[in-house]
Amino acid sequence: MMDVGRHPKINLMTYSQVESISGYVGNFSVRVRKKTRYVDEDACTACGDCAVACPVTAPDEFQGGLSTRKAIYIPFPQAVPSAYLINADECLGNNPIACGKCRDVCDKDCIDFDTQDEVVEFDAGTVIVATGLDIFDPTGLSEYGYTRYENVITSLEFERLISSSGPTEGHFVRPTDLQRPQRIGFIQCVGSRTLPTPGFPSQGANGRGHPYCSNICCMNTVKDSLLLLDHYPDTDITVYYTDVRAFGKGFEDLYRRSKESGVKYMRGLPGQILEDPATRNLRLMVENTMTGELETNEHEMIVLSLGLVPPEDQDLVKQLLTLSTTEDGFFLESHPKLKPVDAPTRGVFFAGCAEAPKDVKDSVTQASAAAARAQIILNQPTIQLEPVVAWVDPELCTPCGRCVRVCPFHAITGGDAKQKIKATVIEAMCQGCGTCAAECNFSAITIRHFTDQQIIAQIDAALAHHPHQKILAFACNWCSYAGADLAGVSRLQYPPNARVIHTMCSGRVDPDFVLYSFQKGAAVVLVSGCHFGDCHYIDANHHTAKRIERLRSQLERKGVRPERLHLEWVSAAEGQKWAQLMRELEELRQSVTLEEVQDTTELLRSRRKV
Ligand code: FES
Repeated sequence: MMDVGRHPKINLMTYSQVESISGYVGNFSVRVRKKTRYVDEDACTACGDCAVACPVTAPDEFQGGLSTRKAIYIPFPQAVPSAYLINADECLGNNPIACGKCRDVCDKDCIDFDTQDEVVEFDAGTVIVATGLDIFDPTGLSEYGYTRYENVITSLEFERLISSSGPTEGHFVRPTDLQRPQRIGFIQCVGSRTLPTPGFPSQGANGRGHPYCSNICCMNTVKDSLLLLDHYPDTDITVYYTDVRAFGKGFEDLYRRSKESGVKYMRGLPGQILEDPATRNLRLMVENTMTGELETNEHEMIVLSLGLVPPEDQDLVKQLLTLSTTEDGFFLESHPKLKPVDAPTRGVFFAGCAEAPKDVKDSVTQASAAAARAQIILNQPTIQLEPVVAWVDPELCTPCGRCVRVCPFHAITGGDAKQKIKATVIEAMCQGCGTCAAECNFSAITIRHFTDQQIIAQIDAALAHHPHQKILAFACNWCSYAGADLAGVSRLQYPPNARVIHTMCSGRVDPDFVLYSFQKGAAVVLVSGCHFGDCHYIDANHHTAKRIERLRSQLERKGVRPERLHLEWVSAAEGQKWAQLMRELEELRQSVTLEEVQDTTELLRSRRKV
């Protein structure tokens, strides 16, 4: 951080909040609120006289609340700039009767209670999102007694207690008697790898935790155990774990060293912790899943190895940059293998835990990759766009504004019926999902390389011979098509009568394509895309789901069996699911008679031509 602060080409804005980002790749406009510190950061020498004079104390967030700080403080020892700031919510203010003591003792005259937040605006070519993470709040897990028993602490509090810059200057003591604990237990996977329990919310501070693995907790505990033994070799340490995931370079060695040093690893997650009121020791009940025995172990201190969660203001960043998140709440990358640091919004990249929990090494690797990806764009004299973008024919645009409302990237302007402004696509922002074209009732929108004519030609070709024996499948590029491909390369056996038509997103599937397919004699039509939360065009597949629902009702009203139109989410890893789906749809297809297909063709003949 010091290096970044000193770098002549980096403008570091600390204690600031991004308020808005508009524009597109190569042309972002950013608005940042620089919160006032009430202390002139250039003049402050960090002498600390102000903090000595300040009468207000508050829990020190950096020390995990294990010590206190003043209302005027430096957030953490390595903070850049190394200058004090005043927490306005805690400060007693500029009232000379109430306080103002810090200003009185500051001989550099750095403190000014009348300063205001400053709003800074600038342009940027690319944006790197490195918003970090929060830790899981274990207070909802009442069986562990966190906050009820003082000697149950979190892994973050442990880090502060063992650190030489911590509240005890690195002397590891337990909070109740300030004595060094001899028997210490670590509980792994607290808030991680927890499937939803009926009656409990699966996420959030009061929930049981999150289903995903938080990636770093195992190795953090292995490191902590070695650190403790290094300081206090006679400590008795037991780690209660689900699995130990020591998968990185050198990690297995470290794990082995920890075991060889005497750390006991017991497979089993404790069910309950109770405190002995006399000794303040903790009795922990656990099923040892290696022996099947129920055990009760006593520890003087217990450390909860906490899982990681997306930061609280993740949704705000998501809205600012029109990003999408996966089911676990972290940002979704453009492609897990080929574009792991790119966001679906062009010119936006991810670094660190914004995308998923990861350790320092992986964060640095990803940050370097994100910087390199951004640099590729910044070094170009002009930006080359993907050719798959939407175009609005002004002759056909009514303008109803439906396309504007469904575009996940806000790439369409105009579309205002009252003001009679036709819709226009900002091509640099358009990602080519095709949702707008599927939504347009007037065929005014063309998706280049995925035009209506091209898709209709594919339908015609697929259903040219024996259409009633065919399953026509529309599959999105990123998930379902890759899932079908995986089924193929894995040599999975499934009926061969599906014909797959590839679109960039399931959102491109125009209802007219489906009706046209039935009209041409298809027995079954499948629309398939990414699972909710995985769509590479933010929430375009939600529009797909709504459209298919409407279409089914429409088919039913016309006397066509609605189950002949099937919607299924298949991910790129679900080759098995694709094969199974094809087998089920083939059974459905066999139930559709030739007469039924011919009747459908008749019923839909009056339908407007695509
Ligand atoms: Fe797969 Fe949108 S990209 S459904």
